[in-house]
Amino acid sequence: MSDQLIKAAKIGFASQYSFFLKAAFFHWNVEGINFQELHALFERIYTEVYGTVDDFAEKIRTLGGYAPASNSRFSMLTQIEDETEILSAEAMVAELLQDADHMVTIIKKVYDIAEAEGEHGFSNFLAERMDAFRKHAWMLRATLK
Ligand SMILES: [Fe+2]
Repeated sequence: MSDQLIKAAKIGFASQYSFFLKAAFFHWNVEGINFQELHALFERIYTEVYGTVDDFAEKIRTLGGYAPASNSRFSMLTQIEDETEILSAEAMVAELLQDADHMVTIIKKVYDIAEAEGEHGFSNFLAERMDAFRKHAWMLRATLK
């Protein structure tokens, strides 16, 4: 359990939390003719992501690290760009799609370190997170077409 793995895990965790928050933000504020559909899609996504936040934090504890949980720490660690504007429905879908693709890359980096260090329990969890973000990306990509 190296410091490198713990540091990478915190970045993945904070990024996932930012992704959850943005999906909730879009769920609450989406407008337009496809409101119902997008409101439900964003909810489905944030619910799935939020459902693994506790497990992710406790995996960091298991590795020997402390789980960050403050806005200032999250803003230092996250690799998901913050959004404060109310975007058009289409721009929301496009931005969350870009972030879902980015999450796969972010989690992959943590996965590779976990695998190299023989932390297979953690890497299994991360492989599932990558799959979940790929599925979110698929749904968002299909919605944009
Ligand atoms: Fe809701």
